[in-house]
Amino acid sequence: MKRMTAIHLPLLLAAVLASSPVLADAKKDEAARQLATKSGCFICHAIELDAKGPEGLKPVGPPWKAVAARYKGDKNARKNLTAAIMGGTSVYNRHWKEESSGVAMPPNGVAISEADAKKLVDWILALPK
Ligand code: HEC
Repeated sequence: MKRMTAIHLPLLLAAVLASSPVLADAKKDEAARQLATKSGCFICHAIELDAKGPEGLKPVGPPWKAVAARYKGDKNARKNLTAAIMGGTSVYNRHWKEESSGVAMPPNGVAISEADAKKLVDWILALPK
């Protein structure tokens, strides 16, 4: 077998790192956070369960880790949550009455495309506890 030259080793390391699932996840995570920031979601939402809203009230919208926990295993969650994000929710049918202080989510279709909303939903639903 040929001996590896000094140049090959860093290249090999870079290739291994770039294909590592941990790094790929970190990149996806960062992209999702940026998308949510750019789309205005964090004005009302937080990720962590113990997040507080303005004046120490509950956050305006439910923390996304709570969303992940509630819809775990729900086959329709992806479709329903994407529709909720795009079209908004109803003040008369609140899903998060006890956990949030906002009365409804306005339609976000002006701020985000449906494809991007789906990306965020997939990421939200996969958030760890
Ligand atoms: C102006 C505040 C506001 C903004 C901006 C906002 N949300 Fe919401 N969101 C809410 C509120 C309030 C609820 C809870 C509605 C309820 O109780 O039915 C909610 C609920 C949700 C839910 C759960 C829906 C359900 O049916 O259980 C998801 C998922 C969600 N938001 C994602 C997003 C994403 C992604 C964005 C950005 C594109 C976003 N939200 C922007 C206020 C907001």
